[in-house]
Amino acid sequence: MRCSRIPAITLWVSLATFVAACANGYYRQQPPAVPQGTNDPGGGAIGLPGANDDDISADAAAWGPSSDAVFPPDAPGQSSGDPVARGRYLVDAADCKACHTAAGGQPFAGARAIRTPIGMIYSANLTPDPKTGIGKWTEADFYRAMHKGIAHGGKNLYPAFPYTYFTRLSRPDVDAIWAYLRTLPPIYQVKPANRIPFPLNIRPLMAIWNALFFRPREFRPDPAMSAEWNRGAYLVSGPGHCGGCHTPKNLFLADRNNHALEGSRLNDWVALDLTSDPRQGLASWSTGDIVEYLRSGRNARATASGSMQEVIYYSTSRMSDSDLAAIATYLKALPPHTPAAVLKRPDDAVMRSGEAIYVDSCSGCHGPNGEGQVRHFPPLAGDVPVHAHDPTTIIRIILEGSRSVPTPAKPTAPAMPPFAWKLSDSEVAAVSTFVRNSWGNSAPAVSRSQVAKLRTRHSDEEPATK
Ligand code: HEC
Ligand code: HEC
Ligand code: HEC
Repeated sequence: MRCSRIPAITLWVSLATFVAACANGYYRQQPPAVPQGTNDPGGGAIGLPGANDDDISADAAAWGPSSDAVFPPDAPGQSSGDPVARGRYLVDAADCKACHTAAGGQPFAGARAIRTPIGMIYSANLTPDPKTGIGKWTEADFYRAMHKGIAHGGKNLYPAFPYTYFTRLSRPDVDAIWAYLRTLPPIYQVKPANRIPFPLNIRPLMAIWNALFFRPREFRPDPAMSAEWNRGAYLVSGPGHCGGCHTPKNLFLADRNNHALEGSRLNDWVALDLTSDPRQGLASWSTGDIVEYLRSGRNARATASGSMQEVIYYSTSRMSDSDLAAIATYLKALPPHTPAAVLKRPDDAVMRSGEAIYVDSCSGCHGPNGEGQVRHFPPLAGDVPVHAHDPTTIIRIILEGSRSVPTPAKPTAPAMPPFAWKLSDSEVAAVSTFVRNSWGNSAPAVSRSQVAKLRTRHSDEEPATK
């Protein structure tokens, strides 16, 4: 009796591993390769979603004339008439270029290697080359890929391509992206075969996953909320695919939608809680703080590290101020979730040795009381990554150092040196514990073994301070 279950269990385990690997493959990469220097933020606009072919028309009718206000056709800086310009703006907002350009390769020609625990997966060529790109695709094929994760010819795509979010895009917006991609010069670039072992390489397995965890559905405005909130909800849940990193996943790596945007860990970076949670989240940030962070990579409270740097460099720093304000309005309205448990104060001896290391090695930049220097050296007092429940980010930054992301708004990027060569595992643990429990911060103590594990796992990577 029991034996008959084994094949089913094996299938599930394989599927889980496989999906886990794919869904997070991109985010498990090395620290982001953010080019240094300034760049020209893209212009353009996101267009007006029209009536959709299926179930949305009823909603649109209920939503009434105010739906125009959600996607303003002539908001400042938006040239709504030109689908190519709109498409280009959306391509930035959705970060297509970052994933679809290999290191040193032609833009949008794909073949970016994405390392996963079970093998390599490569992004596809999005230029109109008929043999190796999407030259033979129709507009309808493209919509199906974005809306349902099914490619030209009917093959299932892996969710390393974030179709689970792009499904929210309106048809006119997808068509605008298509119009922009058609203007790219065709480039002959074969997508290398994914290197995933049998049986995990069976694409139709994804149909099972889709049936269980994915519902293709365009964004529906909520008539009870403001136009700006709806615009933000659309950008966050659709093109921005913020939940790809910020929403915790279930066993099969599908989003846990009842914990949307409450924070998650990918590639040993903690993508923080974006709700208004007072301890872990953005409760103390104003909408202006959020806009400044997304535009410039830092604000008076924080500087962006880890995989968020790539998002800011390629995507949010190129978005219009009104769209960033809409995202901020939406995030600020996310309710806080359950309060964290009361924590035990760490050992006094550990706190004392942590303090000595801090005074010696850190206070020169971060200040004697963790106050930092505004927009230069981030404050550690009240800083969310510092007292996040999960200490992964702070441990990695102390070991590897970090350079802030350069953006058009803030082209020079201050850096923090790596301390891996100088501090032992227990010293890194002590100084982390100290900063996590001083100046009003409170968070679980960091152990020597947590540091040792991250040190070994990332010792072969290039330091983030380039
Ligand atoms: C997080 C990384 C990531 C982002 C962001 C991303 N893609 Fe992809 N995309 C991929 C990967 C990986 C594949 C290959 C999936 C596979 O092999 O099943 C892919 C495949 C595709 C395909 C299928 C092409 C084919 O020949 O089968 C299309 C179309 C596509 N992406 C379009 C886009 C567009 C348009 C955007 C921006 C709106 C975008 N992608 C953003 C990673 C990404
Ligand atoms: C590739 C993964 C990834 C994606 C996609 C992503 N983020 Fe992040 N985000 C992160 C990580 C990692 C951090 C933590 C950065 C740090 O520790 O400095 C972060 C931090 C943030 C913060 C700062 C939180 C704080 O308390 O300091 C904000 C705000 C934010 N992200 C907003 C967004 C928005 C809005 C989107 C979608 C447009 C988005 N992120 C998409 C990975 C991601
Ligand atoms: C030379 C100046 C300098 C020194 C010394 C220094 N830091 Fe930093 N630190 C920085 C800069 C600059 C950043 C921002 C880097 C970024 O944006 O990625 C930073 C970031 C951080 C962060 C992440 C904050 C966030 O919001 O993401 C932590 C935690 C941190 N430092 C702790 C320490 C500790 C602990 C020490 C001593 C062992 C130390 N720093 C020594 C300059 C310094």
